[in-house]
Formats: sequence, structure tokens, C-alpha cells
Amino acid sequence: MKVLIVGSGGREHALAWKLAQSPKLSELHAAPGNPGIASLGNCHPVRADDGEGLLTLAHSLAIDLVVVGPEVPLVAGVADQLRHAGIAVFGPGREAAMLEGSKSFAKELMLAAKVPSARELPEPLAPCVVKADGLAAGKGVFVCPDTESLARALKEVEAFPGKPIFEELLIGEELSMLVLAAGEETLALAPAQDFKRSYDGDQGPNTGGMGSYSPVPGIGPDEVEVILDQVHRPVLTELAERGHPFIGVLYAGLMRTDEGIKVLEFNVRFGDPETQAILPRLQGDLLEALAIVANGTLEGVELGVSKEAAVTVVLAAGIYPAGSDKGSPIEGIAEAEKAGAIVFQAGTAVRDEALVTNGGRILNVSALGPTIAEARERVYAACEKISWKGMRYRTDIALEATRREASKGA
Ligand code: AMP
Ligand code: GLY
Repeated sequence: MKVLIVGSGGREHALAWKLAQSPKLSELHAAPGNPGIASLGNCHPVRADDGEGLLTLAHSLAIDLVVVGPEVPLVAGVADQLRHAGIAVFGPGREAAMLEGSKSFAKELMLAAKVPSARELPEPLAPCVVKADGLAAGKGVFVCPDTESLARALKEVEAFPGKPIFEELLIGEELSMLVLAAGEETLALAPAQDFKRSYDGDQGPNTGGMGSYSPVPGIGPDEVEVILDQVHRPVLTELAERGHPFIGVLYAGLMRTDEGIKVLEFNVRFGDPETQAILPRLQGDLLEALAIVANGTLEGVELGVSKEAAVTVVLAAGIYPAGSDKGSPIEGIAEAEKAGAIVFQAGTAVRDEALVTNGGRILNVSALGPTIAEARERVYAACEKISWKGMRYRTDIALEATRREASKGA
């Protein structure tokens, strides 16, 4: 099978890495890809949101399956464009992708489907959360515990188009629950947790995500089934009834509150960096699974999950999320891999044959281990081998989970 991956981040490198393990793969292509993906396949200089360019590329390469990584092309309708031209696509069409593309649409749909979520507030009153309505790469959400932070958030949100929405501030543990979805059929991927805040101790602004781990202590198969019943299935049914059946990954960002599970957001794609922790644990042929889903069914999909745990740490530019870093030489990836980690590239470029920084989130380092604690030790030992000027990372990814894991005697 000839596959085209759309996107250029760490998530797409992780997808490429997993798809490259499939015996069914004959050619791997990416648009635009990155230097990490280039070590596994061919990268083409076509932007992820250039629907026409992707269509031409897919036709010229005789692609059998397009896997769309990021949300921007999905919300722009790129999956529809390719499907209308007869190309199999893993990823939802524009209407279904509005679940991520518009927070107010997602709220309306959740109300209609009776899915528990944070209450919308008619006006901002601390404590609360201020959210830009449209896509903002994880940076359009401001958590405001007090009036000072609310005043700052109301100023900052003006930089985003559209009217912001205000929500009650939910307290609890976060959980990312990703499922493969074909219409109303679902197959849960392993539960994961993401770390959105920029600095240790969940301090600083929201980012695209600074690390992740899987599994999540306390979320076993029974809890997953309850979540799918309360959250994913009603949403998928509502979308299907509106004439927009969902094909792809439906990702629910959840808060585990004292009153039960509540939805923080929906994403219509693989999470970044959750995917970099979920895929190393995934057993079975992901390519075969995605190709089946692209045909609108889950029949015949066989995927398992390893008992091992995975922890992923994002290595970022010192200035991220306020800005990015370009051109600093990166050292130590081979040493990190020798230490037992998998290094996914997210914001890199090649200059004069050397790998250099090119973005905000630069690398994602993942490691497996028999427990979360051991995966965590391995991943941080590997991170220490890597360096560039200004590199930084959170040092507390999955730390709390190791405590819960220990208290359960896992
Ligand atoms: P979102 O893009 O809506 O998931 O928001 C990004 C992050 O902001 C979430 O992962 C949470 O950390 C935080 N967040 C969003 N909504 C709320 C809420 N209602 N209460 C508390 N935290 C929230
Ligand atoms: N990890 C958060 C996201 O993918 O949106």
C-alpha cells in the first residue's frame, strides 16, 4: 500500500514510524514531512493545508491511503476534497471536523447529545476559563482562577478572531481518550495524559503539550467503556444523524471531576504529544486498521496494547510557547536512542547536512518500561543526552502517575 502522511510534526513522525512497521506498506510519503520522517520515506514540499497540491501529489504518486495528521487541513475540508476525488482518507470531513474547529459548535453538539461538559457562563466571572472560539494550536485557552488572571486573559484573547466563550473552571485530573471511529463504530486506543502547561507544577501558559504518558492509573477497560458510552458514542451518533458521519480519530480531552467525567474539548485527530506515547504501546498493524477505517468500518480491525508503559517528554525551544528557535545545531539524538529511547522530530530542519532547530516544540523523546516509573527514568536519562542552545523541558512529566502507580502496587 502506498501511503501519504499529511503534516510535519512529532505526531506525524510517530505515525510514520508505526506505519513503516507494517508488512502492507510499499511506499511511505509525507507532505511536507520533516527530517525525521525523511529517514523513513519521501517528503514532498506541499503544505498540509494545500488541498489542491495534496490532490495532485496523491494522484501523481498513485497513493492508496492518505492519513491526515493536523487539524487545520481537516477543518479546511481537505479530507472531503480528496475523498470526492476517489482517494481513501483517514480523517473526518469539514462538517465533522468543526467539533474541533469551533468551540461554540462543539458546545451546541454536546448539549444536543447530552454529553457532560463544563457549563458555559453568560459572562466572565473568576474563577473561570476563557476560550477563543476557533483553532489556536492549544494556545487560545486561558485558565483564570482569580480576577487578575481573568483581566489578563480578556486582553490576550482579543488577539484571536471571533467572540470568546467563558466556562466554569473544572478541577480534577485530565485524561485524553482517543478512539478510532467509523460512523458510530468505535475502538478505544490506550488512555493517555497530556501536560498542557509550559512549566513544571502546571505553571505558565498553555502550550500544544509538553509531555504525555500511557496508561493512566485508575483508567482500566471498565472505565474506558463508561467514557465511550457517555462521551464518544453519543457525539458520533449525533454527527451521523446530522448527516456527517465521522471517520478518523475522535479525541476527547476530559476532566475527571468529583461529579464524574466532563469534556474539556474535542479534537478530530491524533493528539500531539499523546500519539508519541500511545503508538509505541500499540500492537498490531496500524496501517491495516487505518485503511479499514478509511473505508467507513471497523470490521476486521485487530489492535492490541502492550502491558508496558510509555512516557514522552517534549524538548522545546527556551522561548516556547511565546516564540520558536531556528538554526541551533542539535546534538545527541543517536546517544538518546542508544539509551533505549525513540526520538521523534517535531520542529527540525537540515542545514549544511546538520540537524538544526526549526520551531517551538523541537523533539519528542519516548521510552517504554515495565512500569510508568521505569519508562520515566529511561526517558529522562535519554533527554539528558540531547542538547542545543536554549533547550528546555518539563521535569515532572508522569511524576504524579508514578505515585498513584506505586500506591496501587502496580
Ligand atoms: P482545550 O483546548 O479546551 O482542551 O483547553 C486546553 C486546556 O485548558 C485543557 O487541557 C485544560 O488544561 C484547560 N481547560 C480547558 N477548559 C477548562 C475548564 N473548563 N476547566 C479547567 N481547565 C480547563
Ligand atoms: N495534546 C493536545 C492536542 O493534541 O491538542
